[in-house]
Amino acid sequence: MTKPYYISPSILSADFTQLGAQIAEVEKHGADWIHIDVMDGHFVPNLTMGPFIVEACKQVTDLPLDVHLMVEEPEKLVEDFAKAGASHLTIHTEASPNLHRTLQTIRSLGCKPGVTLNPGTPGIAVKPVLHMVDMVLVMSVNPGYSGQSFLPETLFKVKKIRSWLDEVNPDAIIQVDGGINAETLPLVRDAGARAFVAATAVFKHPGGIGEGMKALREKLK
Ligand code: DX5
Ligand code: ZN
Repeated sequence: MTKPYYISPSILSADFTQLGAQIAEVEKHGADWIHIDVMDGHFVPNLTMGPFIVEACKQVTDLPLDVHLMVEEPEKLVEDFAKAGASHLTIHTEASPNLHRTLQTIRSLGCKPGVTLNPGTPGIAVKPVLHMVDMVLVMSVNPGYSGQSFLPETLFKVKKIRSWLDEVNPDAIIQVDGGINAETLPLVRDAGARAFVAATAVFKHPGGIGEGMKALREKLK
């Protein structure tokens, strides 16, 4: 089903001793997808989750699992993540010398292919593959950690890539990830984003997960 907007809470800031309960709570409060941040300690400094966590999430929710691969050589891992239950597999252009081929592989595995780029990478880097993706993820922080501040200079890239998508692949959506909260979400929405990743603003909201989700959802009415 196509929705106008998608909120994808990132479990990177969840309490892992309560992961099932926390996923149930974001689901109850209107999460559309679950964002899973996979980091390899090489492409980004942090080391996080593997296919095993995707499998665990699959057991506790029917929501689509939006897997963000911040890894070198993602072509070696996409099959494992597809088998584990990923619905979306997003790979970094900076980490994928054979970007075109890996995106084709992701689709052949039955997942929705996404391409992403870091704040320091020009938008033109994803232009050659825009026709073959379901999603472009514009990173609005340098990947590696949650809790960083939104980089407003990335808004221009959202607008530019949206205009290119409108020409070649109007159904593809733009997702933004990093520093998204109730203040920054309207900026990226107005620039053309339709999917919003948030870790801190949901799982570390001072009023709890329900309040965090509500604050974001209110900006999408
Ligand atoms: C950043 C990750 C993000 C991160 C977002 O490296 O890709 O998904 O969890 O965290 P917040 O929403 O706290 O910026
Ligand atoms: Zn992410």
